[in-house]
Amino acid sequence: MRISESVSGRLKELGVELRPAISLADHTSLGIGGTTDQLLLRRFETIPDVIRLLADENIPHRFLGGGTNLLVADGELPWVVLHLPTSQTGMRVEGNEAFVDAAADLGGMVTFCAKRDLGGMEGLVGVPGSVGGALRMNAGAYGTQIGTWVKEVELYRASTGQIETVRDDEIRFDYRHTSFAVDDIMLRVKLVLPSKPFQETLAGIRVCNEKRRASQPLNQKSAGCIFKNPPGGSAGRMIDELKLKGHRVGGAAVSDRHANFFVNVGQATCSDMLKLIDEVRARVQSAYGVELENEVILWRN
Ligand code: EPU
Repeated sequence: MRISESVSGRLKELGVELRPAISLADHTSLGIGGTTDQLLLRRFETIPDVIRLLADENIPHRFLGGGTNLLVADGELPWVVLHLPTSQTGMRVEGNEAFVDAAADLGGMVTFCAKRDLGGMEGLVGVPGSVGGALRMNAGAYGTQIGTWVKEVELYRASTGQIETVRDDEIRFDYRHTSFAVDDIMLRVKLVLPSKPFQETLAGIRVCNEKRRASQPLNQKSAGCIFKNPPGGSAGRMIDELKLKGHRVGGAAVSDRHANFFVNVGQATCSDMLKLIDEVRARVQSAYGVELENEVILWRN
């Protein structure tokens, strides 16, 4: 979708940088996705006005974070994408509190805090993506999930059209799910973290990284785990037991290393990936009677 010149002039006044015709394949870890205009939101305080303007002009939008848990449709996309600048993201520590911009890199935040003797997030260091994406999904690994440490989140709340601060007791953090609305935009977070000497946190980070390297296809294009684990079960183990590792549809394949990671082995399209997801889901359903739920977020046309 293209922004007209008249709208782009008004967006500029609101501090928005327009990047025309970007390919979302270049902005997602799967390397899949069509083309649209990107609006870089350089001033938090104008976000409500930007979104109102888009609504008035009938321009649909989606908010793109780190793009690491996302499968985007092919071709010309019928919505523009909003994005926060990722350069010079703010991070600061005061006592046991950390204040971090949502556009910051998640692993960068964990090491920043670790170096200031704040621990607790060791398992998250190898999870690719932004802090905002991790908050929205309640990202987790190796016994840690980000929600545990959240004290406050500053966000653009779609239901009120305002920037608000919500406290931890107003947010529900569940397994890979939170009470944030899909069109809320995370802006900043305040975390309260346990004190831990840097060397101890570093040792924990090394252990998690080792486990991750041994079991996950880190050097291939993926969106992490495709399916959530069903209660008490393991999607990866079930798919593996069905001998589906390496199974391909076009350029999309079940990883040889971890069966719940689906990788782009060449020029995979969104439709290749969707077919693979549907096939695997159907095979698991018929063998185990379990309907796997997507963890990956789908942006279809
Ligand atoms: N397994 C297999 N074959 C496979 C993959 C796994 O038999 O191909 C078995 C393993 O041997 C193990 C069990 O399944 O006994 C669980 O595997 P693993 O420890 O790799 O954990 P997982 O449940 O598959 C979850 C998260 C990962 C996270 C790891 C480590 C989900 C859907 N996945 O994976 O998160 O990194 O634990 O904590 O919750 C993600 O969310 O994108 C993600 C990668």
